[in-house]
Amino acid sequence: MTEPSTASAPSLRRERQLAMYRRASQIMPGGTDSNFRAWGESTIYVDRGAGGLVWDIDGNEYVDLRMGYGPVILGHADPRVDDYVNERMRRGVSFSLTSEDEVRAIELLCELTGWVEMARMTVSGTEATMHAIRVARAYTGRNKIVKFEGQYHGVHDYALISVLPNDVAELGDPDNPVRLAWGRGIPAAVAETVIPARYNNLDVLRRLFEREGHDIAAIIVEPVLGNAQGIMPQPGFHAAMRELTREFGILLIFDEVKTGFRFARGGAAEYFGVTPDLATYAKAMGNGYPAAAFGGRREVMSVLPSQVSHGGTYAGNRVAAAAAVKTLEILRDTPALETIRRTGEAIQAGIREVIEAKGVPFIFTGHPSMFGIMFTDRVPTEYRDWANTDHELYDMIAVGMHARGAMPEPDSREPWFICEAHSQGDIVDRVVSIFRDSFHAALEARARSGAEGAATAAS
Ligand SMILES: Cc1ncc(COP(=O)(O)O)c(C=O)c1O
Repeated sequence: MTEPSTASAPSLRRERQLAMYRRASQIMPGGTDSNFRAWGESTIYVDRGAGGLVWDIDGNEYVDLRMGYGPVILGHADPRVDDYVNERMRRGVSFSLTSEDEVRAIELLCELTGWVEMARMTVSGTEATMHAIRVARAYTGRNKIVKFEGQYHGVHDYALISVLPNDVAELGDPDNPVRLAWGRGIPAAVAETVIPARYNNLDVLRRLFEREGHDIAAIIVEPVLGNAQGIMPQPGFHAAMRELTREFGILLIFDEVKTGFRFARGGAAEYFGVTPDLATYAKAMGNGYPAAAFGGRREVMSVLPSQVSHGGTYAGNRVAAAAAVKTLEILRDTPALETIRRTGEAIQAGIREVIEAKGVPFIFTGHPSMFGIMFTDRVPTEYRDWANTDHELYDMIAVGMHARGAMPEPDSREPWFICEAHSQGDIVDRVVSIFRDSFHAALEARARSGAEGAATAAS
């Protein structure tokens, strides 16, 4: 992940965070609990959030455009969810017995998706994808899993292959991609079970299925490339993939950890009108509480409980289940998703005006509730295309926005996440104006370094 540097932008207060970084680094690798937020001396230590805003421990205020990598769909500290969770948790949180909250959460999941017939809760998206893959293997009696380059399905070994290299050349020959393990510690034997494919490329997929289909249990696909700025499927891609998987007896798993209950009440399956066999959910399901689930067709899920192992001390714990119940009820009963879409569109309209005024080619990727800004004049169709965009310009803008009081992810591959509370107050205007200043500053810095480069070359 990119480590942001605030060197060339207006300065933020950082004293307490630097001290915290030094303290935390003594006992936590990178000073934090996740590689994805280990940003060296720029690591952010958060104090609190409210609605669409967040404050770090130095008191700097930001419009939050990360929203915890997507889960906080309504807003931070949403009283509707928090009050309900508080009320339910007073009855005890963890029994390793099943509560009505869990049953209710899954009933709502089935109702909102409209196609999931059976599901089970897990604590994280990682566990959800890991179990969906295991269920698919058990159901088909086959071992291999196909995944697309540039897609992230969590931190288990079974999908940490060809995820997000900075240098796309590491992915190997486009016609014969290599299995690129993310970091050390993933057994070669496990990596061998994963076959990387190229998103939006049906020819490669068909050839692969013809060659190895008899060994392939499932293809796991995030319906959009959520960790590559939300690159979208080409028209008909998912429907064609659905047909192809049926033809070869391969299960289709939609990883809806990011898109679920966000793109539409029924997630990306509803949005694209394609029904997979299995799907995984997390993030927006619990407005930031650790609620997650995997589920799908009754026939497939029926390998549980007798034939397939799935458990978890905290699976379906009261806090997560209650959060899921209340969040899903709100998403079902209120126009929250419509508000989020409209807010995202309003931010996009403002940004479009700013960029077009400077004549810089760009496109929006993803959905207005979860979108990327790619500086390119070509529509990207797969992860490899990210390398050909001007992501350095994006990174400069993101750093500038951070320093001016809005916090997108500093890495250009992560989309902006819009929550319901972003519609409140002047947040939309603030984001657009912070983007404008940061964009202009980035272009000026570029022009300056270009002029300096030319002067050095001439001298
Ligand atoms: C598409 C997708 N799948 C799975 C995961 C893993 O979820 P978790 O971080 O809850 O383990 C993520 C996390 O970002 C994700 O984006």
